[in-house]
Amino acid sequence: MAFSISSSLSSLFSQEQKSALGIDIGTSSIKVVQLRLEKGRVVLETYGAIALGPYAGVEIGRATSLPYDKIAEALKDVIREANVTVKNAAISIPYASSLVSVVTLPAGVEKQLAQVMPLEARKYIPVPINEVLLDWFIISGGGKNAGPNDKLQVLLVAIHNDTISKFRSIASDAGVNVAFFEIEVFSAVRAALDHGIAPIAVVDMGAGTTKFYVVERGIIRESHIISHGSQDLTLAAAQALSTTVADAEQRKRKFGMQGEAVIQGNGVLKQSLELSLSTLFSEIARTVTSYEAQKNQPLSAIVFTGGGATLKGLQAYAQEKIQTEIRLANPFAKTQAPAFLEEILKEAGPEFSVAVGLALRQLQGNG
Ligand SMILES: Nc1ncnc2c1ncn2[C@@H]1O[C@H](COP(=O)(O)OP(=O)(O)OP(=O)(O)O)[C@@H](O)[C@H]1O
Ligand SMILES: [Mg+2]
Repeated sequence: MAFSISSSLSSLFSQEQKSALGIDIGTSSIKVVQLRLEKGRVVLETYGAIALGPYAGVEIGRATSLPYDKIAEALKDVIREANVTVKNAAISIPYASSLVSVVTLPAGVEKQLAQVMPLEARKYIPVPINEVLLDWFIISGGGKNAGPNDKLQVLLVAIHNDTISKFRSIASDAGVNVAFFEIEVFSAVRAALDHGIAPIAVVDMGAGTTKFYVVERGIIRESHIISHGSQDLTLAAAQALSTTVADAEQRKRKFGMQGEAVIQGNGVLKQSLELSLSTLFSEIARTVTSYEAQKNQPLSAIVFTGGGATLKGLQAYAQEKIQTEIRLANPFAKTQAPAFLEEILKEAGPEFSVAVGLALRQLQGNG
């Protein structure tokens, strides 16, 4: 799927400076989003996605584990199909390849974090420190007014060097320059949420896994992986319908949870999707309850994102099962696009949250 919105009218030099490209390399597909800054507004130039299944000899929609050259090939293909013109890209690093922990330190060490964090990281990271790239952000407790007994909370992020080199190889093979890397959780949150104070959860439904984050005042408070993803819905549906995985995937995407009343003979599909989702939703509900109990504060909403969240009828079904308000991510709402695309972009939106978030950061000049 690819759609080019702008033609190649814009001049080359202004494009180099004012456009940004976000690349989200997921386990089941690669997503690209190209944005341009124009008179202070963010304009959607083009976007596209390509399934990795066919490059791995498996069905569309399934999680893959491909060598870097195959991923580079797919990336080149989607860049061409989507008419991407930007060479400098922001690329996401999978959450599963990263380690994120909150480290509590005495406030006094704020100025010496460059020395302190590598030492501190040894307590949190199960591999030798020289094998990882470390980064950190102060969450709270810093600043001039901090007393000697105050605590500094620092978010520590580690990514294995091998992961970084793999992603560098993919980029260079595909002819892309890396503007910066970002762990997907930060990109997804930037694109899927508006600024708010109340804690809110983000649920990213990917192919093989579902990622759960809690964000408060723009800071990731909690994150973990649930080993149940959208491909499990397809596999269960294939069994229930006694059909192939490819056919079940197609039907899942086409009909989603619309039942018998809408499409004759669709009851079995709906039932099987509901059954698969109920496992996932009870795990989400459990996580939400335990977070709320621990912090003694309710979550204001749960925002679903990722390709799995584009399932027809998901929002209504989730709302039946979970008390907290359920929303779907609408990352393209942060961009300007032709009005006739509004509905399509809203529907496809959740799949592109990470890629939109990356491109937004690059436009903000934080690359
Ligand atoms: N229209 C649709 N209806 C239902 N499910 C869909 C639809 N489109 C895509 N999916 C599902 O979304 C899943 C892929 O989501 P996404 O692209 O977010 O995963 P990913 O980023 O590749 O995976 P991960 O983040 O786990 O690495 C697939 O399993 C696919 O079946
Ligand atoms: Mg993903």
